[in-house]
Amino acid sequence: MPTRDDTTTTPTDTELIALVDGRLRTFVEQLYIPGNLRDAIAYALFGGGKRIRPLLCIRSCIACGGAAEDAVAAAGAVELIHCFSLVHDDLPAMDDDDLRRGRATLHKHTNEAMAILAGDAMTASAFHLIALGHDAPGLVQQLTHVLASSTNAMIAGQVYDTMGGFDEDEARSDLDKLREIHRCKTGALLQASCYMGALCGRATESQTAKLVEYASAVGLMFQAVDDLLDVTQSTEQVGKQTGKDAAAGKLTYPSLLGVEGTRTEVAKLLGQALAALEPLGPPADPLRQLARSLAQRTR
Ligand code: IPE
Ligand code: IPE
Ligand code: MG
Ligand code: MG
Ligand code: MG
Repeated sequence: MPTRDDTTTTPTDTELIALVDGRLRTFVEQLYIPGNLRDAIAYALFGGGKRIRPLLCIRSCIACGGAAEDAVAAAGAVELIHCFSLVHDDLPAMDDDDLRRGRATLHKHTNEAMAILAGDAMTASAFHLIALGHDAPGLVQQLTHVLASSTNAMIAGQVYDTMGGFDEDEARSDLDKLREIHRCKTGALLQASCYMGALCGRATESQTAKLVEYASAVGLMFQAVDDLLDVTQSTEQVGKQTGKDAAAGKLTYPSLLGVEGTRTEVAKLLGQALAALEPLGPPADPLRQLARSLAQRTR
């Protein structure tokens, strides 16, 4: 892995994912919890996720002059929150899904009580990992603030997505509501990933603002693509049950804009993400590449 004195070497995504996974494995092994709970957490964490949030976090840190190691605990923490959100999202009380990342969802692999409890423990563990992994003055407090507020924003998004709850007095278009849901349920954690990476990389205020702007566009784009995959791809290809959003009456980009309209929206958001990165120059190239690949992803 490169250090601050070794800025000429750019680590690959595979190397960065191995770094985060290594830290997560050691951390989970050391938790003082029952073996069956540890196994459930490991199942939810190490099941073939794309690790987009850790990559955003570490790439943001590097883009501001930091090293991968500086952001690895924060990157692991945001992945713990993300994986908890998926475990609970799949529960019968929510999306009621049996398949995730090409295999049984955690509540199918174990049982519902264990899936609820594993999600609970993963949430606490995310903050534990930050507390153990960062010791620069003030950094733990800043990271905790960003991750806690974005986790609550994600949960708010899940509330809107599952049972509504928008202020009825407010006359909002469906597209406006959709953007708000997506900004919360998915955008918040992607934004937190870049923000935390910027904090770990000791970014300037203007670098941080640009990374947050980038992440805000990428966050909406990411969920727009997720909605698109639900209507255009097979269950086998995506590794989770597709064709479910319309059946569940979810507010999605394709339901409002159609498939072509959603693709246009994705292209627009990608353009916004790339424009935000302009002032960051070549060190932000991996973030540009990541945004392009997320716009085109097929799983
Ligand atoms: C799925 O997220 C849930 C959404 C927020 C759309 P990812 O597509 O990042 O899931 P994994 O971690 O790669 O399985
Ligand atoms: C999930 O949105 C967002 C969170 C888990 C916070 P979806 O319900 O669309 O995600 P998938 O399609 O099940 O991965
Ligand atoms: Mg859902
Ligand atoms: Mg779901
Ligand atoms: Mg989805």
